[in-house]
Amino acid sequence: MNLAVELGSGRKRGLLLQNPVMTASGTFSYGLEYAKALDIQRLGAIVCKTTTLKPRAGNPQPRTAETPAGMLNSIGLQNIGIDALVRDLAPTWARWRVPVIVSILGATPQEYGEVGSRLEGVAGVSGIELNISSPNAQRGGMQFGQEPEAAADVTGAVRRASTLPLVVKLTPNVTDIVAVARAVAEAGADAVCLINTIQAMAIDVRGRRPALASVFGGLSGPAIKPVALRMVYQVAGAVDLPVIGCGGIMSGLDAVEYLMAGASAVQVGTATFTNPSAPLEVLEGLEGFMREEGIEEVRELVGAARVRR
Ligand SMILES: Cc1cc2nc3c(=O)[nH]c(=O)nc-3n(C[C@H](O)[C@H](O)[C@H](O)COP(=O)(O)O)c2cc1C
Repeated sequence: MNLAVELGSGRKRGLLLQNPVMTASGTFSYGLEYAKALDIQRLGAIVCKTTTLKPRAGNPQPRTAETPAGMLNSIGLQNIGIDALVRDLAPTWARWRVPVIVSILGATPQEYGEVGSRLEGVAGVSGIELNISSPNAQRGGMQFGQEPEAAADVTGAVRRASTLPLVVKLTPNVTDIVAVARAVAEAGADAVCLINTIQAMAIDVRGRRPALASVFGGLSGPAIKPVALRMVYQVAGAVDLPVIGCGGIMSGLDAVEYLMAGASAVQVGTATFTNPSAPLEVLEGLEGFMREEGIEEVRELVGAARVRR
């Protein structure tokens, strides 16, 4: 069976994954703890926690809450900062077989470019994922992903600052995700990833206050899968770039749904919190489905359920 997928074919180095199953940013930390317990080298790629120019402490507690078939978070981009990542983590990643993609965020397009430029030529870094979709950043993040022109500005700034394969991660908190996807494709993205969390809230009725200290947070988990699938289907039909599907993937069959909707790869997020082996089990489930169906090439699944009109 051939599970390999190419995500950055236009780039000098490209981004060839041994299979389409990746981890989602913010749900697998920087990969190091998991590497001790799991055979993470079998994964397609690891996307690390979104990292900013300076370290960030994140939002006050409580910053997570359980919801039916999902969870809310407002972590607020707690991270170690780009210089510590390059100095302390990249040398370990350079010894790994699994490629690591670094998720980045800035307060302005220039700052995104600055963070991206610090990854140039760093051994152990195989690509950049641009976070223009986090609902939990006071400045940056979703603010840029909600408007096609702003999304293109940020994408262009990082494109000029880096030769690395560039994935742009989109927010579902928009009226027209296709317009944003088209704008970032035009501005030099090599792939798009969708979706980040859906802006949401919950109430602590005994405390008579919002469940999250920051009032609003992002909804993730199985609850968002049908929304994410619809958006992946729309975007895959509109842009000529690989699409990475994300949202509520718990099993190999969930991943197959995304591939059939038009995604070339998938990311596993919230599932990892209840089952740290979830990304590997998604991969095994996908392989099992291909065996059962007699499918040799994973690419045969991509877009297989698309309806021609
Ligand atoms: C606790 C938590 C932290 C997250 N942190 C980030 C982050 O730093 N950057 C980012 O792009 N997405 C972040 N996300 C969003 C996930 O990467 C993913 O897009 C989303 O949760 C949907 O996928 P899922 O339903 O499989 O979790 C976070 C999600 C959760 C639950």
